[in-house]
Amino acid sequence: SKGYFTYDPGFVSTAACESKITFIDGANGVLLHRGYPIDQLAEHSDYLETCYLLLNGELPNAEEKKSFVDMITNHTMVQESMARFFRGFHYNAHPMAMMCGAVGALSSFYHDSIDITNPEHRRISAHRLIAKMPTLAAMCYKHHIGQPFMYPNNKLGYAENFLHMMFGTPCDDPEVNPVLARAMDKIFLLHADHEQNASTSTVRLAGSSGANPFACIASGITALWGPAHGGANEAVLKMLDEIGDVSNIDKYVAKAKDKSDPFRLMGFGHRVYKNFDPRAKVMKESCDEVLRELGLENDPLLAIAKRLEEIALEDPYFVEKKLYPNVDFYSGIIMKAIGIPTDMFTVIFATGRTVGWIAHWSEMISETYKIGRPRQLYTGYDQRDFVPLDKR
Ligand code: SDX
Repeated sequence: SKGYFTYDPGFVSTAACESKITFIDGANGVLLHRGYPIDQLAEHSDYLETCYLLLNGELPNAEEKKSFVDMITNHTMVQESMARFFRGFHYNAHPMAMMCGAVGALSSFYHDSIDITNPEHRRISAHRLIAKMPTLAAMCYKHHIGQPFMYPNNKLGYAENFLHMMFGTPCDDPEVNPVLARAMDKIFLLHADHEQNASTSTVRLAGSSGANPFACIASGITALWGPAHGGANEAVLKMLDEIGDVSNIDKYVAKAKDKSDPFRLMGFGHRVYKNFDPRAKVMKESCDEVLRELGLENDPLLAIAKRLEEIALEDPYFVEKKLYPNVDFYSGIIMKAIGIPTDMFTVIFATGRTVGWIAHWSEMISETYKIGRPRQLYTGYDQRDFVPLDKR
């Protein structure tokens, strides 16, 4: 009834096992982080406070929160040689390709905190990763558009600093719109953790071999990239652009129901939720607020998305299959309105999800664990004798 399961350590891999971090009730659309509902955290908390909760199990008091925020702030800069590392990428490299490489390479710059048996090393690496992901994400974008990298400004909040590094330049440093900064913070928060999804399970499996935390998070970034997982937000925007007008929606819904057609309604359906993804509801409200703030409330993409949601929720196929909008359905519209290009959407997802990956990694290696070793159901040949070449 608590939503956890016991497992046979001798058989089921360590990667898929008990956890105290996040609870999902897919049938009723419930998502709890350490017992707190996601909609309450989105309304009353912020990303770094939620990071503290996921890592430590309790909401921080004022002193604990200030100390944690200061700790993260002190780690926002990356070693200057990371700039040369980025310049080695083709300018047109996909930002996710750069993130996979850059985060994996962090262990070569921060090898003073990769002894996973040392709790202090684990703590410092966790802070370094949460702090440096926005800096690295912004460096991907700046390299991609051929602009100079922006250093973090530690007088700014976490999400505000990210938008500063994304859109500021050494020539001018535009004020960050507080509504956009709050929306960005909420996007990070809504992506923070989601139980043992594909990328989190990848991180746990990598961690179970004793790999260093930077390598484990790089493995999570790689797994997140696919369009069935974290790449869906980019695919939703491409789909909405392709639909182009509300008059075309019925045609695309019909394609999505046609088993012979590979087309899927991106941003719909989920491995666990058979009801509304509670994050999608919060994202939709935030979408309205951001577009109103920017005078884009008549954004045609939003109109298509809302009409598509209405049609799909009444369509017998989607009702029968229990397909609802998920976290990726509205997030892309907000990010596009903020000015973030579509190929950066999954990088943003990875940045927000880093704390969830770290929390699960840390939970696993701070207890007794075995290397994950999923078994298979073998369906190949029975044993047979070798056939010499001249007899084949
Ligand atoms: C994320 O696991 C997590 O927690 C992930 C995540 C996180 O925070 O980490 O929540 C983030 O990955 C969200 C999902 C983002 N992906 C997309 O939006 C891509 C589009 N969605 C589909 O690819 C799909 O819904 C999946 C991959 C998400 C789930 O696919 P499943 O496991 O097949 O879903 P299902 O078992 O509920 O499907 C039931 C039926 C199937 O048809 P039948 O085999 O019964 O005939 O519905 C069909 C599916 O083929 N179906 C869809 C569909 N999604 C499922 N049909 C049309 N359009 C869709 N989007």
